[in-house]
Amino acid sequence: MSAARRAREHAHAAFSQFKVGAALETADGTIVTGCNVENATYGLTICAERVAMFKAISEGHRAFTRIAVVADTEQPTPPCGACRQILWEFGGDLEVVLANLRQEKGVHRLKDLLPLPFDARFLQDG
Ligand code: THU
Repeated sequence: MSAARRAREHAHAAFSQFKVGAALETADGTIVTGCNVENATYGLTICAERVAMFKAISEGHRAFTRIAVVADTEQPTPPCGACRQILWEFGGDLEVVLANLRQEKGVHRLKDLLPLPFDARFLQDG
């Protein structure tokens, strides 16, 4: 959680002012962080969760246990749909811990946040 809070400080959120930090834990205990990075065309923005996962994949990690997501909101900020898909495909049924700047606000399983997911298994089944 503290790693996600620190990562949030690096958020490039010049357009929304909405800063998010994420910290992904690998099976061997390594923590890989991410923050949201926005750009002038808006649509190419990437969320903190996907930055963390793509960083981890690019560094050779392949197995993950949980991800923490931190934003400065009273209600916890859950991953968007695109992030749920990417987290599922690369991380499976992760524990998803949501928090604001003060406290932990909830723990979920990714399978509950993304019911009936599409993934690579279907590509082999067609
Ligand atoms: N954002 C994230 O980084 N993660 C989330 O879980 C929700 C949304 C970012 C994307 C965009 O930069 C800003 O927050 C507002 O949507």
